[in-house]
Amino acid sequence: MTSLKPILSHIDNIPSTPGKFKPDKSSLYYLHHRFRLHSTLPRIAFWTLVFLAFISVFFFMSPPSTTAPRRGLRTTASYGGSGWENQVKASAKIRSRNGHSVLVTGAAGFVGAHASLALKRRGDGVVGLDNFNSYYDITLKKSRKSQLLDRAGVFVIDGDINDAVLLRKLFGLVHFTHVLHLAAQAGVRYAMVNPNSYIKSNVDGFVNLLEVAKSTNPQPAIVWASSSSVYGLNSKVPFSEKDRTDQPASLYAATKKAGEEIAHTYNHIYGLSITGLRFFTVYGPWGRPDMAYFFFTKDILKRRPISIFEGPDHGTVARDFTYIDDIVKGCLSALDTAKKSTGSGGKKKGEAQFRIINLGNTSPVSVNKLVSILEKLLKVKAKKKVVLMPRNGDVPFTHANISLARKELGYRPTTDLEAELNQGMCLEHFLRV
Ligand SMILES: NC(=O)c1ccc[n+]([C@@H]2O[C@H](COP(=O)([O-])OP(=O)(O)OC[C@H]3O[C@@H](n4cnc5c(N)ncnc54)[C@H](O)[C@@H]3O)[C@@H](O)[C@H]2O)c1
Ligand SMILES: *[C@@H]1O[C@H](CO)[C@@H](O)[C@H](O)[C@H]1NC(C)=O
Repeated sequence: MTSLKPILSHIDNIPSTPGKFKPDKSSLYYLHHRFRLHSTLPRIAFWTLVFLAFISVFFFMSPPSTTAPRRGLRTTASYGGSGWENQVKASAKIRSRNGHSVLVTGAAGFVGAHASLALKRRGDGVVGLDNFNSYYDITLKKSRKSQLLDRAGVFVIDGDINDAVLLRKLFGLVHFTHVLHLAAQAGVRYAMVNPNSYIKSNVDGFVNLLEVAKSTNPQPAIVWASSSSVYGLNSKVPFSEKDRTDQPASLYAATKKAGEEIAHTYNHIYGLSITGLRFFTVYGPWGRPDMAYFFFTKDILKRRPISIFEGPDHGTVARDFTYIDDIVKGCLSALDTAKKSTGSGGKKKGEAQFRIINLGNTSPVSVNKLVSILEKLLKVKAKKKVVLMPRNGDVPFTHANISLARKELGYRPTTDLEAELNQGMCLEHFLRV
């Protein structure tokens, strides 16, 4: 993994750390002594077992191959059956007046899990879909499912958005009024390791989902996650929806921008109502391990040095951190204000709504500030290493103009990073792993 080291620290995203697993010597020592193995034979057996355990853990956590898809598409054999269908229908059942029935893709992800919960809580029907890929620790995705979603009665299907047979089956079973499409290959740096995963999920998968959605009758309204990264090298702040977005600085950004154009096409040709939300660096409990606040915290606690990026000419690197609850409110409001699609069965009947809206916080926090907040909270001084931000994906700063979100969605972010972290929020709760 040493070859990955230089790209393992930066403010926004890093490739996953599967394969970084290191045997914890102290616990091994403890185990060994606890069982007091005196004779050689049990000792050999013991170490063989330990060795096998590590091999399997390592195998489980090792990074996906860069060429082969990480997981083959499921065949129809792995889902279906009347029990499965009943679970889907029960989960999709609307329990409030004027509630929606929502298909949430990426439901085991950070934003997807929180959004699914919020929808379910207010009485909407929710069916989740996620392929549980190994971009980051799968156990975190599984825990979000078992500890948050299963308990709330949200059924999450282990499947891929590229699986048209599965999607058609789902739309056949349930009349989804809305799709909240959050499944994607996220992160900026991982594109240097596995570029195809971005195309596969963010372009191919999105087109596949739109193809199925446009053919249903009636069509659902679609709300999906674009990203602030589409602003790329744009230097005018704050970033407004009208600013240019044709200078992406990463493959991730390019696929999100492609998604916006593809969405426009499906809106134009087939009358699908589509809202693209440009999220700005989302943080909060059950968050993604590839994000700075997450791995900074771990590294500071372990007394490991952290790399602090600075822009060209010692410029500050800053992010418009947006709290998960604010993002979820924005997503729900986008679903609630989405107009109906106008087409049916693949035919457009009239103009349909098309929106692109920033969801940020409008108060950028510099990476230095982030680290000092964490230091204060953890009561540990960070070992800082200032390095020039490599020019391979990141932009120096993000700052959202949210007037449009205010107007269209009644969006008012209420959480400030420092206040949130200072509110005595226990970090275990924050990291939740
Ligand atoms: N978190 C942020 O700061 C941020 C910022 C901007 C945009 N976004 C976008 O918001 C969305 C949610 O992000 P997140 O932070 O929750 O990321 P996440 O990685 O935690 O969630 C995405 C989920 O989608 C699933 N997935 C990926 N490809 C899939 C496929 N082909 N089929 C089915 N499931 C698939 C993954 O397993 C994962 O659980 C993404 O579209 C992301 O690009 C996030
Ligand atoms: C924010 O965007 C709106 C349009 O949505 C624009 O009228 C306004 O001037 C922008 N504000 C700033 C500070 O750029």
